[in-house]
Amino acid sequence: MSGRGVLITGASRGIGRALATAFAQQGDRVAVHHRGSPAPLGELPGDGHVAVRADLADPGAVRRLADEAAQALGGIDVLVNNAGVFLHHPVTDLTYEEWQAAWRQTLDVNLLGAANLIWCALPHMRPGGRIVNVSSRGAFRGEPDSPAYGASKAGLNALTQSLAVALAPRGIAVTAVAPGFVETDMTTEHLTGPAGDDIRAQSPFGRVARPGEIAEAVVYLASPAAEWASGAILDLNGASYLR
Ligand SMILES: NC(=O)c1ccc[n+]([C@@H]2O[C@H](COP(=O)([O-])OP(=O)(O)OC[C@H]3O[C@@H](n4cnc5c(N)ncnc54)[C@H](OP(=O)(O)O)[C@@H]3O)[C@@H](O)[C@H]2O)c1
Repeated sequence: MSGRGVLITGASRGIGRALATAFAQQGDRVAVHHRGSPAPLGELPGDGHVAVRADLADPGAVRRLADEAAQALGGIDVLVNNAGVFLHHPVTDLTYEEWQAAWRQTLDVNLLGAANLIWCALPHMRPGGRIVNVSSRGAFRGEPDSPAYGASKAGLNALTQSLAVALAPRGIAVTAVAPGFVETDMTTEHLTGPAGDDIRAQSPFGRVARPGEIAEAVVYLASPAAEWASGAILDLNGASYLR
């Protein structure tokens, strides 16, 4: 089998879809994870790609996902934890039940989904393996109307750094990217609404990111050359937030 075996979560749309294309373009075989949306397998260059379906909030489904992807790819060389949800749940506007539900749903997918998938994927990974987590600028800048999202990404950053240390002896590098606004379904409503211009003006470049720009950075962090980036959380926000 040629190329590496790359498992990408949330690859049906947005950043994940751009990631699948970018890895396929360089000759890797991609396990395109999806849940409700169709997997865009037909648009990927090369061969050896497979679609794998799972709700990441379900730990049993996550385990089946890892095993299925590993079986189809002949092991997992690269895992990209990209899938995520972004819920609007301002603390002052919700009932206690709604507040709890938003936290549970967000943490189940964004943080526990990634943590569980790493645990399940590890037995299928070899030295030279790479794990890249898609975090967010919101982990550092705060998310006043989506606090569970900000906290889930801050947790993902801490998970990244802890596992970078824990997995280095196994030759596996663990990194994260922290994008600002990216043009995807997750942000369409914001970008096309009355706040769109203000959002674009957050960056001195006067725009938001394209999914392909995030994909190129992830491809680098997943490359054999990037072992020494392990533990890094790479800001990709067009200088819209400096820390
Ligand atoms: N867009 C931005 O501005 C931005 C900025 C910073 C960070 N990020 C992060 O980048 C990542 C990708 O974002 P995006 O903008 O590309 O999002 P998106 O267009 O909304 O796509 C989200 C993806 O996550 C999957 N997903 C959601 N809930 C799931 C669940 N319970 N189980 C399995 N899969 C699930 C979706 O799968 P299905 O559609 O198949 O159900 C979809 O493929 C996320 O982690 C997000 O937090 C995005």
